[in-house]
Amino acid sequence: AHRVDHEYDYLFKIVLIGDSGVGKSNILSRFTRNEFSLDSKSTIGVEFATKTLQVSCFRSLILLQILRFQTSRICIFDGLRNLPQIEAKTIKAQIWDTAGQERYRAITSAYYRGAVGALLVYDITKKQTFDNGQRWLRELRDHADSNIVIMMVGNKSDLQHLRAVSEDDGQVLAEKEGLSFLETSALESLNVDKAFHSILTEIY
Ligand code: GTP
Ligand code: MG
Repeated sequence: AHRVDHEYDYLFKIVLIGDSGVGKSNILSRFTRNEFSLDSKSTIGVEFATKTLQVSCFRSLILLQILRFQTSRICIFDGLRNLPQIEAKTIKAQIWDTAGQERYRAITSAYYRGAVGALLVYDITKKQTFDNGQRWLRELRDHADSNIVIMMVGNKSDLQHLRAVSEDDGQVLAEKEGLSFLETSALESLNVDKAFHSILTEIY
C-alpha cells in the first residue's frame, strides 16, 4: 500500500564501526532506549534500532537572517513569501550495529549500503582500538559512499584512571582525517545524544 503521511521528513542510515568491545552496542542502546549493560555480549551479525529526532534547518535560518536585514532597509518584496520556512525537520535515524570481530560480521557491502553517516568508535582505555581507526577508515573508503559523514568517537570517558589515548590525540587524528570528534560515555550517558545530533545535523 502507498503511504501518504510519513511521520518523518528524512530517513538517515548511520553505521557504527570500530573494534570489538569499544562499546558500539551500548552507545546504540543508550541513544535509542536509554539502556546500558555492563555485561553485554559481542554482537553477532547485524542489529539496528531507530530513533526519531528534531533537527533545525540552519541554512534557511541563515538565509532568513540575511533577508530580514535586507527587508528592514529595502521594504518587503514579493519573493519573500516563497522562502523556505524555518522549522525543525523530523529526522528518523536508523542506526546499524555489527560485530567488531571479523568472524561475526555480516556481509560488509550490505552493511554500508545507503549509509549517510558513520560513527567510528574506539575505547580511550585501549590504544590498539584507536590505532585500528586507520583500518576502519580504509574499510569505509572501500565500501561506503564517498560522501559519507564520519565522526570519530572515543568512548568510555568515564574510565579516566585507565585512559590510554589522550583527548588531544583523538582530536589531532580526527582533524588530520577531516572528521568531527567527540568523547562519550555510554555508561554515564555523556555526549551520546550529542554525537548523534551533531552527525545528523552535519548530514542534513
Ligand atoms: P562487539 O559487539 O563485540 O563489536 O562490541 P561492542 O563494540 O558492541 O561493545 P559493547 O557495547 O558490547 O561493550 C563492551 C563492554 O564495554 C561491555 O562490558 C560494556 O558494558 C562496556 N562499555 C561500553 N560502553 C562503556 C562506557 O562508556 N564505559 C564503560 N566503563 N564501559 C563501557
Ligand atoms: Mg556489539
